[in-house]
Amino acid sequence: MAIAGLHALFVLISIQCYIPTLAVILKSADKSPWANEFESVELSCLIESISTNNPRIEWKKIKDGEPSYVYFEKKISGDLENRAMIKEPATLVITNTTRSDTAQYRCEVTAAYDQKSFDEILISLVVRVKPVVPRCSIPQSVPVGKTAELSCVEEEGFPQPQYLWFRNDEEVPEDPKSNPKFLNSSYTLNPDTGTLKFSSMRKEDEGEYYCRAKNDAGHSDCGPKMMEVYDINVLAIVGGVLAVVFVLLCIIVGVCCAYKRGYFPSKKETGSDFRSPERGDGVDYVRTDEEGDFRHKSSFVI
Ligand SMILES: *[C@@H]1O[C@H](CO)[C@@H](O)[C@H](O)[C@H]1NC(C)=O
Ligand SMILES: *[C@@H]1O[C@H](CO)[C@@H](O)[C@H](O)[C@H]1NC(C)=O
Repeated sequence: MAIAGLHALFVLISIQCYIPTLAVILKSADKSPWANEFESVELSCLIESISTNNPRIEWKKIKDGEPSYVYFEKKISGDLENRAMIKEPATLVITNTTRSDTAQYRCEVTAAYDQKSFDEILISLVVRVKPVVPRCSIPQSVPVGKTAELSCVEEEGFPQPQYLWFRNDEEVPEDPKSNPKFLNSSYTLNPDTGTLKFSSMRKEDEGEYYCRAKNDAGHSDCGPKMMEVYDINVLAIVGGVLAVVFVLLCIIVGVCCAYKRGYFPSKKETGSDFRSPERGDGVDYVRTDEEGDFRHKSSFVI
């Protein structure tokens, strides 16, 4: 009787202990992994508890709210085909990531013989893309006191790159006051948009500029370009304009005088001299030895 009671108690205890384990429970070593493009990455899906021997394991990729299978019926499918494999028990290993792999992935495990027979875990993967060479726009020359805008754009990098500007290989600080070489300069620098804006150019702003697009995956620079800052000398400009006007006046006066003195024979005279009015057929012919030189002119006029 005592033994039977003890046995019943034992069964009760073992059931009490057993029931919570009749459930599939997943966990992950890293729910937001990242990798640089073309590297490999593990989407960790670990089974913490399970009683079923051969659970059904599936992976779905969720991009823009649309789920699609990447592992189904023990096969890698979709755009991960030939680029991924399953590592026991349920971890998905992508061997050569691409930028389009950035998405959410759901590991789903169905254990038919467990009381709680289903569990899933969501993993957010970020594939970082190194920026390509940015497109830079740097004015070649700017007058002192004028505004100027230098721009830098890069569209491949992921996450969105930050932009740095360099002048003569020295980083342009966001705050000009932080570096004596940039003190008193009138620029504002936006590292998110890549714009370097001068509100009033100074001679000291002259130099060789280039931009760098940078994110966690790496950076790329555009080729350096010289930006020249020149003085507008008002007197020199006025003098130059006056000189051009004077030269033009001289030419006009000279041409008028030449006309009046008859240096330019009128068109009527030359035309009638070289024409042979009797012949309208355009055939060249030589009338006399003296006129032979005008053969071609004659046919040209006809
Ligand atoms: C990874 O994929 C890219 C194209 O997506 C390919 O050019 C590259 O060779 C692949 N690298 C490896 C190691 O397979
Ligand atoms: C900056 O400007 C101040 C006054 O405007 C001047 O005293 C100083 O010398 C300038 N510094 C440089 C480096 O140009």
